[in-house]
Amino acid sequence: RQTGLTSLDYGFVNTASTRSAITFIDGEKGILRYRGYPIEQVAKRATFLETAWLLIYGELPSASELEEFDTKIRRHTLLHEDLKRFFSALPHNAHPMSVLSSGVSALSTYYQDSLNPKNPEHVELATVRLLAKLPVMAAYAHKKSIGQAFLYPDNSLSFVDNFLKLNFGNLAEPYEIDPVLSKALERLLILHEDHEQNASTSTVRLVGSTEANLFASVSAGINALFGPLHGGANEAVLAMLAQIRDSGEGVGRFVERVKNKEDGVKLMGFGHRVYKNYDPRAKLVKESADEVLAALGVHDDLLEIAKELEAIALEDDYFKSRRLYPNVDFYTGVIYKAMGFPTRMFTVLFAIGRLPGWIAHWREMNTDPQTKIGRPQQLYTGAAERSFPAR
Ligand code: CMC
Repeated sequence: RQTGLTSLDYGFVNTASTRSAITFIDGEKGILRYRGYPIEQVAKRATFLETAWLLIYGELPSASELEEFDTKIRRHTLLHEDLKRFFSALPHNAHPMSVLSSGVSALSTYYQDSLNPKNPEHVELATVRLLAKLPVMAAYAHKKSIGQAFLYPDNSLSFVDNFLKLNFGNLAEPYEIDPVLSKALERLLILHEDHEQNASTSTVRLVGSTEANLFASVSAGINALFGPLHGGANEAVLAMLAQIRDSGEGVGRFVERVKNKEDGVKLMGFGHRVYKNYDPRAKLVKESADEVLAALGVHDDLLEIAKELEAIALEDDYFKSRRLYPNVDFYTGVIYKAMGFPTRMFTVLFAIGRLPGWIAHWREMNTDPQTKIGRPQQLYTGAAERSFPAR
């Protein structure tokens, strides 16, 4: 009989690991708010960096605070030249998420003057460095995967435009920013900025609770996000839609396979631990999908398949009784594809979006006097005491 164990909760379905003042979700009603502001308003009215500031510091920035924050981030976009060589050493066919988590982990080796979680100046510097350098490293991972030269950041550009240029520009010709693309990407990144205690944020908190530095904690978060049940779902959705189209099996037959749990197949981009109603982010992404594809002049039959899948699933008892709705990952891939990102970059885009949330939670945890090292209990199911054979 174990002493001290009060409950067993697989997947932390009923257990709060912390208190937090950053993000509010009501999964029954489909409500999401950042620091009290409804996501629908934030996504349409704010910029990515303004939202990052809101999440990290708790209030909207003044115009001068935002300008200073933006300037600092622009000044920190350059990567150490040796770090560039670190990227070159990785295999070209590596998944960009693995490249990214390795790169973030390596930041601890290059920027040793910002590793102390107890020193506010270190924390501030690590915050700015991560926000500035993660998009650059993500673009390196992209360029590496397609065999093109890395570009230097262009600090005259905004956060999102700089990122677009790093991904789609090349050394041979000038790059024109498409405002449709820029606005759409900014909105998608904002929608991903925080989502309270999801698996990757909880990972960042757990690692951070050991007083590990911010780079190490975020690198762990990126690895947690990689999985197909979490951020990796956006990549998996596109693979699923393409498989339905290319196999010619038809949406109806595919849904039957999901319902029969054939080979464990799931409707990727559907279902959520917290939302038992339409994910408010998915609503906004779906609106954007139509707008962006029309504005970019792209027709994608995968969007038609996605809509057909959604329509069938929302009417079906299997999905209705389990309260499964599209989540944020269901339509994002179709937009990222229209923008020109390869499928393997989709989860990397999620990581860039989620970065401010990870930082905000790590900082909140480090300043909460109630914080303790994360150390779950277990229910031991192994052998009772036995004698080791005498030799
Ligand atoms: N397709 C088919 N059945 C599903 C799905 C799905 N996508 N999601 C849940 N179910 C079924 C599940 O099999 C179970 O059925 P039963 O009661 O017969 O055993 C029931 O619904 C409850 O599911 P659960 O697995 O207990 O729910 P959970 O809260 O543990 O898992 C989830 C949540 C998101 C991991 C799951 O819904 C899922 O695997 N979805 C597909 C992957 C996905 O889209 N992930 C992205 C999540 S949102 C953004 C993010 O966090 O990155």
